[in-house]
Amino acid sequence: MTSRRCVPLRGVAEVPGDKSISHRALILGALAVGETWITGLLEGQDVLDTAAAMRAFGADVQRLGPGEWAVHGVGVGGFAEPEDVIDCGNSGTGVRLIMGAMATSPITATFTGDDSLRARPMGRVTAPLSLFGAAAFGRAGGRLPMTVVGAADPVPVRYEVPVPSAQVKSAVLLAGLNAPGRTVVIEREATRDHTERMLAGFGAEITVEQGEEGRVITLTGQPELRPQSVAVPRDPSSAAFPVCAALIVEGSEITVPGVSQNPTRNGLYTTLVEMGADIVFENPREEGGEPVADLRVRASSLKGVEVPPERAASMIDEYPILSAIAAFAEGRTVMRGVGELRVKESDRIDAMARGLEANGVRVEEGEDWFIVHGAGPGGVPGGGTCATRLDHRIAMSFLCLGLAAQEPVRIDDGSAIATSFPAFEDLMAGLGAYIARRNR
Ligand code: S3P
Repeated sequence: MTSRRCVPLRGVAEVPGDKSISHRALILGALAVGETWITGLLEGQDVLDTAAAMRAFGADVQRLGPGEWAVHGVGVGGFAEPEDVIDCGNSGTGVRLIMGAMATSPITATFTGDDSLRARPMGRVTAPLSLFGAAAFGRAGGRLPMTVVGAADPVPVRYEVPVPSAQVKSAVLLAGLNAPGRTVVIEREATRDHTERMLAGFGAEITVEQGEEGRVITLTGQPELRPQSVAVPRDPSSAAFPVCAALIVEGSEITVPGVSQNPTRNGLYTTLVEMGADIVFENPREEGGEPVADLRVRASSLKGVEVPPERAASMIDEYPILSAIAAFAEGRTVMRGVGELRVKESDRIDAMARGLEANGVRVEEGEDWFIVHGAGPGGVPGGGTCATRLDHRIAMSFLCLGLAAQEPVRIDDGSAIATSFPAFEDLMAGLGAYIARRNR
């Protein structure tokens, strides 16, 4: 795919439902007794793979219309043993949350995924799951394919999450659902809290306290989860692409309605405002238990900033697009405390560094830091080809870069975009962006 310098972006960008919340709605729906209704579900491949997995564990999952789904759950502890291997495709969230959800039932399941997912570490999840009594057998380095043997007599655990990871936290909480007694999870830094919010919504007994060690989450096991109606808000991580594109394409003005403003997810927006972005947060309100707002965005001259490490968890998926637009800022943008980027769908520091260099942007990098030297508005040469490494956010970030670079920017493979934002190309074209596909 190729993107090139384009006319001002104008219009309304209706981005899809939140990916994190979509996975959780399907999984908790499958663990409730009765019928959960979901609207606004993201129909990206990652979430479709989780829907298929829930069917394989015995839930009845039906698509009623666009974004409208019904899940007839089997109850906590009611998962059946899947007859075949569970393929989670590209999704780290899918595989890790599902491993947690099945780890305290007396069943065995084997998980696999695509080339990207099979390269990612699963030990961070299977280590705490073994404390419940589950066992896991995978490839070297805790890689998929991996078989998890659920605990027949699970015990509750107290676990301090060693890396800032909502997936690890959520896997432990979901495993704790079928352990008798109280499971306690402690996280030093707050990560996205959708699992905690949704567990409370489904009727679990769950408390969150700020202790000296960090956020202490206590879940009482073996509840009967009550089915819910879940309205999934729009994904702030997907909204980041049209928002950032509008900031760098001169003369642009767009609106992005109904975007989640959950404080554990909105670090990018704080950073953009610090960079001088003209973003107005209109009509703040609550939808589906999450704070949302309509964003009005105008093209802006940006200046480089230092992003504090303590903000990393609240914008962990947005560093690729931030790095792309930092190339158009005056001065350098410094990102520290971002080591987790190396174990995402790709090594995102390396992927962004190589792709930016190929487009004439100067960068510096270390194990857990990354600096982009801004070339100023109109100053990015472009003309390079970027390897997307099966990573949707790398693909979309470089396509946005090309919309304001001097020469077109190419990506080698746009297929991964469908994992989280299948309508990306059409939505961007509707705003006036020029993104072309070879063979189309
Ligand atoms: C997610 C957590 C984050 C994030 C991912 C979604 C989730 O991963 O990068 O896209 O839904 O829990 P980590 O838990 O690895 O930080």
